[in-house]
Amino acid sequence: MTEPKKVNMEKIVSLCQRRGFIFPSSEIYGGLSSCWDYGPLGVELKRNVKDAWWQAVVQERDDIIGLDASILMHPQTWAASGHLEGFTDPLVECKNCHLRWRVDDLADNNCPSCGGELTEPRLFNLMFKTFMGPVEEEANVVYLRPETAQGMFVNFQNVLNTTRKRLPFGIAQIGKAFRNEITTGNFIFRSREFEQMEIEFFVKPGTDEEWFKYWLEERLNWYVKLGIKKENLRLREHTKGELAHYARVCYDIDYLFPMGWAELEGIANRGDFDLVQHAKHSGKSLDYYDDETKEHFIPYIIEPSGGVDRSALAFLCDAYDEEPDKEEIRVLLHLHPNLAPVKVAVLPLSRREKLTEVAKQIHADLRQCWMVQYDDAQSIGRRYRRQDEIGTPFCVTIDFQSLEDEQATIRERDTMNQIRVPISELKTVLAAKLSGERFDTESLWTAEG
Ligand code: GAP
Repeated sequence: MTEPKKVNMEKIVSLCQRRGFIFPSSEIYGGLSSCWDYGPLGVELKRNVKDAWWQAVVQERDDIIGLDASILMHPQTWAASGHLEGFTDPLVECKNCHLRWRVDDLADNNCPSCGGELTEPRLFNLMFKTFMGPVEEEANVVYLRPETAQGMFVNFQNVLNTTRKRLPFGIAQIGKAFRNEITTGNFIFRSREFEQMEIEFFVKPGTDEEWFKYWLEERLNWYVKLGIKKENLRLREHTKGELAHYARVCYDIDYLFPMGWAELEGIANRGDFDLVQHAKHSGKSLDYYDDETKEHFIPYIIEPSGGVDRSALAFLCDAYDEEPDKEEIRVLLHLHPNLAPVKVAVLPLSRREKLTEVAKQIHADLRQCWMVQYDDAQSIGRRYRRQDEIGTPFCVTIDFQSLEDEQATIRERDTMNQIRVPISELKTVLAAKLSGERFDTESLWTAEG
């Protein structure tokens, strides 16, 4: 089978830095390994990814509610969850150059950097530690959460009592997680500080397999609806050896990243592991009373767990395109309009006051609805290319004719087709196009001049 076309990571990194999507963290000090800052466009893209997820899993559903738990949690949480004991990677150190490596990443028993001899593996816990309060002693150790999931398990009874939800129902959360990863790299794919979007879906034991299948399909479709090409996605079942300690079964949704197939989201059937563990460690009952069958039981949990940063990277890689453009190359991002950082750019043909006055008025009007950029620098062709490169779906151009007929040109990113629209109708037309509706005057599109 031939592999679908892949973009290389250097191009994505270069575009992200050049256009202000993503910068190395604290760059003026040389950067901080595997930490990243989202610039003006990156922050919009990331917000749009999170909003699209929240809309699909919370806003449009009756059976999931949201939560925002704290990053620092009672240290017992991590004893109960198994992270204190089991959230480790086997690590070796080179006796010569002292670089450290994850055993899983080694091809043989020599240091990949200098070929030196390696130490015996030892287990390295991936949780970041800090201290609560002014005294730095063992009793005050707290951890930066390595996953958002635990905040939802420990709030299971709070949510149940305050929302009167009945099974099956879920809790959803978006938030930062921290892992002291040994092997990092591939840009924002694996970093030490990242954001997760997780659902913990509580179900009656016996219905878990059905719900597991439901969530596999639901989550896969979410990526496809937002524009990821089907051939760049696959489902992969975890082997017994790689299953996490809590999981009965787990599938990854893999994406074909520039470095190859890799996990985008994990979907696990966690059984009753988490609620049983937290009940045991806290001494609080976390069971559920079924009013219909008059039974008490511990629900099973289906967990779709995705990464905001990894999703953003997949959306960028999938959207990236290059087309010949006379002597140059047109770089464009075919981002879904819901994800595009800027929805519309307003471009006066020249800086003549008569034109800029109208254009500024349109800009002020449209920005009440969407993120809109105003750009009057350089030729109109260059300005279109700048917007293509950041994935702006529509440009609105104001020319001298606009002063006569009170119409503006809308130019579409992917086809470069153009249409004249009354300025008074711009908002309505753009809203329809941005929400994916076909334009009923499609035949009026003309090619970009
Ligand atoms: N609660 C289950 C859990 O955390 P995981 O497979 O370890 O499962 C879920 O993480 C998702 O979080 C991954 O599919 C990935 O998208 C994201 N993720 C995990 N570690 C990451 C890292 N170091 N950098 C960026 N994203 C990460």
